[in-house]
Amino acid sequence: MYVIVLGSGAGGGVPQWNALNSASSSAFAGKSPQRSQCSVAFSANGRDWGLINASPDLRSQIIATPALHPQTGPRSSPIKSVILTGAEIDQITGLLTMRERQTFEIHATSNVLAAIAANPVFQVLNHPLVARHACNPGENFTPLPGISASLLPLPGKVPLWAEAGLADPAAHCDGWCVAVILESAGKHAVIVPGCAAPTGRLMELADNADLLLFEGTLFTDDEMIRTGEGTKTSFRMGHMPMTGPGGTLEVFAGCGARLKRFIHVNNTNPALDASSPARQTLRDAGWEIASDGEVFVL
Ligand code: MLT
Ligand code: MN
Repeated sequence: MYVIVLGSGAGGGVPQWNALNSASSSAFAGKSPQRSQCSVAFSANGRDWGLINASPDLRSQIIATPALHPQTGPRSSPIKSVILTGAEIDQITGLLTMRERQTFEIHATSNVLAAIAANPVFQVLNHPLVARHACNPGENFTPLPGISASLLPLPGKVPLWAEAGLADPAAHCDGWCVAVILESAGKHAVIVPGCAAPTGRLMELADNADLLLFEGTLFTDDEMIRTGEGTKTSFRMGHMPMTGPGGTLEVFAGCGARLKRFIHVNNTNPALDASSPARQTLRDAGWEIASDGEVFVL
């Protein structure tokens, strides 16, 4: 199985259009790599490809990835399938790039499909050509030849745009936050673009994974507040911080996953600086941050 990290940044990317924090200014100046918004491509045969989430940066991600270019004229795409793990802006708006009368399938929970159906802009994804498949978490489906997939429900919250009027957005997370489990020829990839807390099933699957791609939005729980760039804690945003109590390094210490990589890394995260003590802390715990365009062959 091939897994390509198309984008390793969180919502906003690195640099973010309105941010002049250290990671953004360094990326604006070309001194450190840019990170587009989180999306992952996968394939068993190298010809048919699926996406996990369609980010607002999808067009440039496709251009940067030859395997995703059209291979036959006049109109075609090797992208046959898109699995959505939620309905955040950074997870679904790339679907709008995929208009132009092209056949592909969308796999998502019924909540996420309903959110897309409720927004008439997404009607540009022509209905007979773009089939929507509602997935029940835990049930296997076949997004591509040679790949078996399932969605794993996780603690999270409703999308940011749906929070208004909810006292506790995390109390309504059912169907809004899932991981994707991919299996091909006995190899397993566990892809988690967002997660507020671990579950027993996640830990079991991660322990046997050949590749664990896990959200690394923030380094510390109070990062947005401390940097003056936000008002919410990491947990309140539905994201486990990398460090601290209940953070990813602590939770996955001892996890048997063969490769552990962070994706969905926010531009405030001090570990983006490859020479920082924060990055060293990740390395010491057996983690790295995935780069845009990084290819894993499992
Ligand atoms: C998140 O991961 O928290 C969301 O992408 C937030 C957003 O849409 O800005
Ligand atoms: Mn996000």
